[in-house]
Amino acid sequence: MELSVVDVFWFLCITISLLSVVVNAECNGGSHLCNWPYSNITHLVTHDSYAVSPNLAATQEISVLKQLDDGVRGIKLSAVFSARDSSVHLCHSFCEVLDAGPASDTLDQIAFWLESNTREVVTIMWNNLYNIDASDIARSYEASSILPYVFIHKEGDPWPTLHEMIQSGKRVVNFIDSKPNEVDYPWLMYQFARVFETPYENTKAENFNCNIDRVASDVNPSDLMYVMNHFLYGVIDIAAFKIQIPMRNRAETINGQLLIDHTNNCTLVHAKKPSFIEVDFYTVGEALQLTAELNNAEFLGIKSEKIESHLGAAGFHVNSLSPTKHVEIDNTENSSPSLFEKINIQVIFAFLVTYLYLIAV
Ligand SMILES: *[C@@H]1O[C@H](CO)[C@@H](O)[C@H](O)[C@H]1NC(C)=O
Ligand SMILES: *[C@@H]1O[C@H](CO)[C@@H](O)[C@H](O)[C@H]1NC(C)=O
Repeated sequence: MELSVVDVFWFLCITISLLSVVVNAECNGGSHLCNWPYSNITHLVTHDSYAVSPNLAATQEISVLKQLDDGVRGIKLSAVFSARDSSVHLCHSFCEVLDAGPASDTLDQIAFWLESNTREVVTIMWNNLYNIDASDIARSYEASSILPYVFIHKEGDPWPTLHEMIQSGKRVVNFIDSKPNEVDYPWLMYQFARVFETPYENTKAENFNCNIDRVASDVNPSDLMYVMNHFLYGVIDIAAFKIQIPMRNRAETINGQLLIDHTNNCTLVHAKKPSFIEVDFYTVGEALQLTAELNNAEFLGIKSEKIESHLGAAGFHVNSLSPTKHVEIDNTENSSPSLFEKINIQVIFAFLVTYLYLIAV
């Protein structure tokens, strides 16, 4: 076979463009991460990712889409079966307090994001507190456009590299913490066969630890990945209910040095870094930066704009419930006139005196 100049030209063009794709390719924000197994990546997980302000039970300040833009790679969802439309909804504390709508809407948003972010792998972790049947959760997937992306892992197998997952197009890892049915839904995988967790019900910073909490303390941790839970709850009592309130006002400290110390502790205790770090209010503090460092990746800063939270909109009497600074500032402003108001009164008074004086003369 003889090659013409034109053939050689095209051959070079194609080779060079293929090479440039390979060279430039990044996986979850770093080209070095392409060769790391999924289990070796540290993912930042947002606790109840959809529970967005303004709301008393909110754990995050911006939408799931913007969280993904920022570099969050783990989305934690709490399933509640809603009798209203017979589908799984995303609620935090109680649906009456915070209902983020049908799960299929949020899954659709994630699918939409994956479509335009072709080299990213995302993890969805289901908190199935009410033991909803796997088939009901699967129906939410079927009602959304995310199903083609779901990844299947066989228990005990080593995890593939990010590159392998991206190549296969299966870029969404789905874990559920109870009632899995891997025979019918092999992609909705039992979390505790693959991932254990440190305690999640922390109400004091001194309580953060690296103990194996869920599912049982007798698992062999060396075979598993782990979630380091790192968020605090304040607890309020309303009638017979104990409602757990995320602590927005302390996020700076919680997601700062405390988070770094906790991560160092757990990395030492379990002889490996956490695969998942779960936080509230990730836009505050250093959670994204720390995650980037653990992945030897560059931290490019938070892209999304921070949104001021207005907890009063939840319909509660905020003064007695809300621990936020925002409300404290409001209180002080109400109790005594601000400097601005004082100046205004003085200016009006001065005008009045001048006016009276001018009339008099
Ligand atoms: C796992 O992660 C560490 C960084 O924490 C990295 O140095 C190491 O090379 C990774 N291992 C593999 C097999 O990619
Ligand atoms: C880290 O470990 C030290 C020593 O065991 C402990 O005193 C400290 O409270 C831990 N800090 C966190 C945030 O886990």
